[in-house]
Amino acid sequence: MQTWLVTGGAGFIGSNFVLQQRLAKAARIINLDKLTYAGNIYNLAILKDDPDHIFVHGSIGDRELVSRLLSQFRPQAVIHFAAESHVDRSIQHPETFIETNVVGTFRLLEEVRQYWGNLTISERDNFRFLQISTDEVYGSLGPDDPAFTETTPYAPNSPYAASKAASDHLVRAYHETYGVPIIITNCSNNYGPLQFPEKFIPLMILNALRGKSLPLYGDGQNIRDWLYVADHCEAVRLVLERGVIGESYNLGGLSEQTNLQVVSQICEILDRLVPHAQSVPHYSLIKFVPDRPGHDRRYAMNIGKITRELGWKPKESFYDGIVKTVRWYLDHPDWVEKVASGAYRQWLEQQYGQLL
Ligand code: NAD
Ligand code: TYD
Repeated sequence: MQTWLVTGGAGFIGSNFVLQQRLAKAARIINLDKLTYAGNIYNLAILKDDPDHIFVHGSIGDRELVSRLLSQFRPQAVIHFAAESHVDRSIQHPETFIETNVVGTFRLLEEVRQYWGNLTISERDNFRFLQISTDEVYGSLGPDDPAFTETTPYAPNSPYAASKAASDHLVRAYHETYGVPIIITNCSNNYGPLQFPEKFIPLMILNALRGKSLPLYGDGQNIRDWLYVADHCEAVRLVLERGVIGESYNLGGLSEQTNLQVVSQICEILDRLVPHAQSVPHYSLIKFVPDRPGHDRRYAMNIGKITRELGWKPKESFYDGIVKTVRWYLDHPDWVEKVASGAYRQWLEQQYGQLL
């Protein structure tokens, strides 16, 4: 069985990936996570007796620790999810994004370069560094623009997107300069179980359940291309196994929706699933609030390359995926209770103030 070093495996996508891949017994996983406010050890609770999931509480920026983990566990792949990932936080506190996404990735790459350089030739050929990135590095599309392809120039607009773009460039440079066998995936917005409730979809579900306002930025007409998280995780595994070294692959849900359309569907599902809630119809909770600065208007992904070359396309439709997601949050009040700590409430207060 292979060994993988997964970074950020207690966050939303990382924990879905670790759970999915451990269920499939795909590899022994060393899971390195700093457990910031967004990382949650409860996400991994069902793996507590799994000897092939080794959780390490620490930072990608700790070179000594990363070096020790690489030489002790000798992984065949590093799958790099760890990041600061919330655009609104990057507007308020950009420095952490530079520290983690840029400097942290740089330090991780340095240790990986040294480790990889000391492997045998065949071990080097089989090693992969997989960078998990975002569609946001490409900037914003107009209503009639074609979807982003892998050759669309990077034009990031938020500090978050700029920090991810910088880390992608470093990853690419470590391949061109030192030969480290890297692959980059750029994915659209994910949704599904275990997403921290400051992000759009879980925030709307939980606010609606509590009868609180549903804050839509600007006119609610910004468009995102939503991908169910399990589909993303399957694509990551496929790219790891069959992707071409040095290449990047766009991933997306083929499911462009305005934010207003997304919230309307969540409200309609909740009206059906919780018909006796005080706030029915939940639609009445929608509140238009001042726009996010530099708010990208539209993202859309052209996934032709990965579909043609590796045979991947999303399985889940947006409607089925969002029904599953709403049900998951309804069925896991204990998880919500645990993650919605004091720090989370403080963020809501700071971000939305009297608006809600
Ligand atoms: P998340 O914020 O939910 O999780 C990030 C995880 O990284 C957390 O567990 C956190 O504790 C950990 N982390 C942060 N700093 C760390 C450090 N210095 N060392 C080790 N661990 C650290 O993020 P997510 O939504 O799961 O996103 C995961 C990755 O996927 C990110 O790189 C993000 O840019 C990318 N991505 C996310 C989306 C999306 O819609 N969420 C879409 C495309 C790409
Ligand atoms: P988000 O989940 O922050 O992802 P990103 O900005 O990385 O795409 O937001 C998704 C969309 O929802 C984005 O257009 C901003 C919008 N949004 C709101 O309208 N209200 C909110 O309270 C939040 C958090 C996001």
